[in-house]
Amino acid sequence: FSPKLKICCIGAGYVGGPSCAVIAYKCPDIQVTIVDINEQRIKEWNSDNLPVYEPGLDEIVFACRGKNLFFSSDVDFHINEADLIFVSVNTPTKKSGLGAGFASDLAYLESATRRIAKVATSSKIVIEKSTVPCKTAESMRAILDANSNDLIRFDILSNPEFLAEGTAINDLLHPDRVLIGSLTTPEGIRARSVLASVYEHWVPKEKIITANLWSSELSKLAANALLAQRISSINSLSAICEATGADVDEVAFACGLDSRIGPKFLKASVGFGGSCFQKDILNLVYLSESLNLPEVAAYWNQVVIMNEYQKERFTSRIIKSLFNTITNKNLAIFGFAFKKNTGDTRESAAITLIKYFLRENANVRIYDPKVPKEQIVRDLTDPEVASVEKFNQRVQMFDCPYEAAKGTDAIVIVTEWDEFKVLDYQKIYGEMNKPAFVFDGRSIVDYNVLKKIGFKVSVVGKAI
Ligand code: NAD
Ligand code: UDX
Repeated sequence: FSPKLKICCIGAGYVGGPSCAVIAYKCPDIQVTIVDINEQRIKEWNSDNLPVYEPGLDEIVFACRGKNLFFSSDVDFHINEADLIFVSVNTPTKKSGLGAGFASDLAYLESATRRIAKVATSSKIVIEKSTVPCKTAESMRAILDANSNDLIRFDILSNPEFLAEGTAINDLLHPDRVLIGSLTTPEGIRARSVLASVYEHWVPKEKIITANLWSSELSKLAANALLAQRISSINSLSAICEATGADVDEVAFACGLDSRIGPKFLKASVGFGGSCFQKDILNLVYLSESLNLPEVAAYWNQVVIMNEYQKERFTSRIIKSLFNTITNKNLAIFGFAFKKNTGDTRESAAITLIKYFLRENANVRIYDPKVPKEQIVRDLTDPEVASVEKFNQRVQMFDCPYEAAKGTDAIVIVTEWDEFKVLDYQKIYGEMNKPAFVFDGRSIVDYNVLKKIGFKVSVVGKAI
C-alpha cells in the first residue's frame, strides 16, 4: 500500500480517535496514524475494547485498523513520516498560575508543537484541531518558524472539531460544516486545499468553509458559548416554570417553533456537563478580560453561573421535598455520564450533585450503563468532591438499576439514558422506602404514570 498522503494525529482522545478513524474509513488512499504519549491508551485503541465508547466507532475502527489506520506511541517517528499533522491534544482549564480557573492550559499543545519542530525533517502542514483561544496559531507559528529553514516549511491551519459526544460518528460522517482557517498567502491557500481534499472524500464541497485563522479559532469558542447559552437560558426559565406552574417543555416547544429560534438545544436539565462547554466559555471570558472587555466577560460568565445555580437549585428542591433532610437517606442516582450514549464523565452534573448529597451525609447508590466503576471512584474521590473515607462509607455502585433503587427513599435521574424511560417502575416502587420519590432532572419519564404507581414526582421545569 503506497498512500497518497500520510496523516499523523497527535492525541488519541475523544476527538483525535473518532475524527481520524473516520478519515481513514472514508479515505482508503490515505494512511492515518494516531499517536499518543499515553501508552495505555494506545494499547486500548489496539485492543478489542476501545478506550472511547461512541455508537458506531467500533465498526469503523475494526474495518480500517491495520489497513490504513494505525495507533502508536512512537510519536516522533510518525510525526516525521507525515505530510499532515493534526494536533488534537487536551486543552483543559488552567488549575494554577496566571488565568487559573479561566484560561486554557496550552502546555500540551505547546509540547506537541515543540515535538514537531524538533523531529520534523521535511515540510509539514500542521493542523490545530484542539479547541484553543484566539491567536494560538500565532504561538504555534513562532515555535515552528524558529525551526524551519530553506528545506523545511511549516504551514498552520485551524480546523476546529464540532462533533458532540454520543453522536460523534454521525456528526463526523455528516457534518453541518467543516471549517478550515488559514492565512490568505499562496502557501496558506495551498495548505488549505490539501486539507480540504481530505474532507472532500465524503463531505459536500459547499459544506467545507474557509475563514481566516483567527475567525476559525474564535468560531469554535463562539459556537460552544452560543449552544451553552441556550441551555442556561432554558434552565433559567425552568426556575420560573417551577415557581409559576408553567411547563418548561411546553415553553420550549412553543418558542422553538419560531424558525428564528429553532427547536434544538432547548431541553431543560440538571445543567450542562462535558469537557467543552464550561472550559470554552471560561476561556472566552478570560479572552474578553484580557482584551479589556469586562462587560463581554461578565455576559458570558453568567452562562456558567446559571449552570451552577441550576445544580444547586435542583439539590435544594430534593432536600426540601425529602422533608428538609437527606442525612442518612438512601438516594439512587440514575446516570453518571454527562449525557446519554457516552461513558465520559468530565464535568458531569452527577459529580456536583453527588458532592452536595455527600455533604449532607446522604447515602448514594449509583447506576450508569456505560461509565466504568473505576471512573466513578476517581471522580468522587477527587479532593474537591469527597474524601476516600466518605466515599467508602456512603457510596455504592451497581450494575443494575433495580438493585440500585432497592431500599432507597428517592431516585434522582441525572443522565437522559433511554433505558430510564422504560424501566419497570412498578417493580422499583415495591422495593423502595415509602413515601418513594422520583426527581427527574431530565424530564424524560412520564410523570403521570409514576404518580399513578404512587411515587411523589418532581420534574425539572414543572411545578408538579
Ligand atoms: P482527551 O483528553 O480525550 O485526549 C487528548 C489526548 O492527547 C490524551 O490522550 C493525551 O495523552 C494526549 N496528549 C497530550 N499531550 C500530548 C503530546 N504532547 N503528545 C502526544 N499526545 C499527547 O481530549 P479530547 O476530549 O479528545 O479533546 C482534545 C481537544 O479537542 C481539546 O482541545 C478539546 O477542547 C477539543 N474538543 C473536544 C470535543 C469533545 O467532545 N471531547 C469536541 C470538540 C473539540
Ligand atoms: C459540545 C458541542 O455540542 C459540540 O459541538 C462541541 O464540539 C463539543 O461540545 P458535547 O459536550 O459532547 O458537545 O455534548 P452536547 O450534546 O453539546 O451536550 C453538552 C451538555 O449539555 C450535556 O450535559 C447535555 O446533557 C446538556 N444539554 C444539551 C442540555 O442540558 N440540554 C440540551 O438541550 C442539550
